[in-house]
Amino acid sequence: MNKKLIIYGASGHGKVTADIARLNGYEEIVFYDDDPNKKVVGQYKVIHDFHDYEDHDLFIAIGDNTTREEISSRMNRDIVTLIHPTAVIGEEVKIGHGVVIMAKAVINSGSVIGDGVIVNTCASIDHDNRIEDYAHISVNAHTAGTVTVGRRSFVGMSASIINNVSICDDAVIAAGAVVIEDIREAGTYIGVPAKKK
Ligand SMILES: CC(C)(COP(=O)(O)OP(=O)(O)OC[C@H]1O[C@@H](n2cnc3c(N)ncnc32)[C@H](O)[C@@H]1OP(=O)(O)O)[C@@H](O)C(=O)NCCC(=O)NCCS
Repeated sequence: MNKKLIIYGASGHGKVTADIARLNGYEEIVFYDDDPNKKVVGQYKVIHDFHDYEDHDLFIAIGDNTTREEISSRMNRDIVTLIHPTAVIGEEVKIGHGVVIMAKAVINSGSVIGDGVIVNTCASIDHDNRIEDYAHISVNAHTAGTVTVGRRSFVGMSASIINNVSICDDAVIAAGAVVIEDIREAGTYIGVPAKKK
């Protein structure tokens, strides 16, 4: 039987996800979006309700962490995890539901990836990390060993987090920032070393 998928969110992030879904064996892919003006995404049709698509799997491709959590929590069906075949996943790594792991990402041994997490292109997560639900590790960002990234926290592209650091929930780490100590308060952190905006 054909593998079929609805990708919720007709966006650039969704398009990248569709590429990964195809490589994961999905042959029939449609996008869902609540904007009735969106009719197609690239080669894919955009639907505006789920009727007639009950036999499709579901993935939530919303980049904003809070919105992704909110939408995921009101879906009454499982949300699949998509892993690009070039990603490298170590031993004893646990990966939740609704996760996408993009091309050339690396997740080293003992790390735990929560539900709804985005591990973007070429990001690396070293050993024994905890990446909490709905966090986003952006393109080419790197976390060293035994790092925690809190729920809904965003690590911008090419940011680095040194080993043994914990970042609280709802933090935003700027592109290119280097985090060298725990972040205990939600907010935006910029620069080298990263400081609260
Ligand atoms: C950090 C960030 C969220 C700040 O956005 P913002 O709250 O709108 O902040 P502003 O653009 O008003 O910038 C505030 C100040 O920080 C500086 N700044 C912003 N981003 C910065 C960065 N990444 N590194 C260094 N300085 C930065 C701005 O130049 C500005 O400085 P000024 O006050 O001296 O003029 C945003 O710039 C950023 O880095 N986003 C990450 C994007 C990303 O990685 N996307 C990847 C998706 S895969």
